[in-house]
Amino acid sequence: MKELEPIRVELRDRPYDIEVGAGNLGRIGECLAPLLRGKRIVILTDPVVDGLYGAKVRRSLRGAGFSPSQVVVPSGEEHKNLAELERVQEELAAAHVERSSTLVALGGGVIGDLTGFAAATFLRGIGVVQVPTTLLAQVDSSIGGKTGVNLRAGKNLVGAFHQPRFVLADVDTLSSLPPRELRAGLAEVVKYGVILSPDLFVFLEGHVGEILALEREVVAEVVHRCAAAKARVVTEDEREAGLRAILNFGHTLWHAIEAVAGYGRLLHGEAVAIGMVFAARVSADRRAFGQVERLAGLLERLGLPITIPEGLDRGALARVVEADKKRRAERVKFVCVEEIGRTCFELLSTQEIEESLRAV
Ligand SMILES: NC(=O)c1ccc[n+]([C@@H]2O[C@H](COP(=O)([O-])OP(=O)(O)OC[C@H]3O[C@@H](n4cnc5c(N)ncnc54)[C@H](O)[C@@H]3O)[C@@H](O)[C@H]2O)c1
Ligand SMILES: [Zn+2]
Repeated sequence: MKELEPIRVELRDRPYDIEVGAGNLGRIGECLAPLLRGKRIVILTDPVVDGLYGAKVRRSLRGAGFSPSQVVVPSGEEHKNLAELERVQEELAAAHVERSSTLVALGGGVIGDLTGFAAATFLRGIGVVQVPTTLLAQVDSSIGGKTGVNLRAGKNLVGAFHQPRFVLADVDTLSSLPPRELRAGLAEVVKYGVILSPDLFVFLEGHVGEILALEREVVAEVVHRCAAAKARVVTEDEREAGLRAILNFGHTLWHAIEAVAGYGRLLHGEAVAIGMVFAARVSADRRAFGQVERLAGLLERLGLPITIPEGLDRGALARVVEADKKRRAERVKFVCVEEIGRTCFELLSTQEIEESLRAV
């Protein structure tokens, strides 16, 4: 299989590389050896991922002269909280983890966010390496340095920017994902095509079968292109001052659907798929975007939902969107597309949102 170039995230303080490929987990030791000066590594993972991939990662690290230990956090979003963070930090302290030690986040976005925040705050900051094992984590959450945990009052309300030292994505890990999780991750993949890369969009349209069958070469190519796209956005806007907002394309509805439908009815990516079709329709009205059906068609072929589920009250959704906008002054703008690969922002009233929702 052809090797893909490492992706350089060119941040001024601390640039880092993202490597995407098949079979990367077995290479983690050799990748980290030239990068880290301390030999102590603590792997944070969950029981599912540990059972599947923990031994392989530990073996590779030991082979390269590291002494890895491990902290296991229960699977699931409900454990991305301060109580679990405290437990992890106490374990790190009990194990005498030092400034020169490094945390390795082995898992999905939940593990990545929690580990990143533990690393950002333990001893006022130690190094972290991201080893994402879900599609969403490989193309999105492991890149860019946003870390954090949830409060009862809301998701990701406590956190920090803490860039990883290195990101290692192994597309072979995707083969053990539940198919629904995989498809949900594909919504984020499509998003990069829509907001940044017409080439990627066309590539996706031409490779739906190979992607769903997880053909290694094709999937590695897709993850690599998405990771590069996210890296580009993050490099230009590390602290979310402007450009990074385009990553919210299709995401406005997610919060609303979660609030109205109840958490867990739809996966994040599924709500994003619906949200993208909604944003595309708004874009058609406002900016004469002419590719709504094309976008909906690709999402549908990838097995994603494109309409708001029966029984969800549009008015209630619109009110949550509005409340969301008020609460976060920076989010008053709605991300639209002018054409595939080019975004713009629009200001929408609640009434306009509600009218557009009725059309989805
Ligand atoms: N930091 C960021 O920029 C950013 C961006 C987007 C999302 N996020 C966060 O990411 C989280 C969601 O991440 P996620 O979708 O990866 O969910 P997740 O981390 O909960 O993982 C989903 C499930 O898949 C399992 N799993 C992980 N890898 C597997 C594998 N290879 N094979 C089989 N099972 C596996 C996990 O045990 C878990 O049960 C949310 O908390 C969200 O807030 C963060
Ligand atoms: Zn998302």
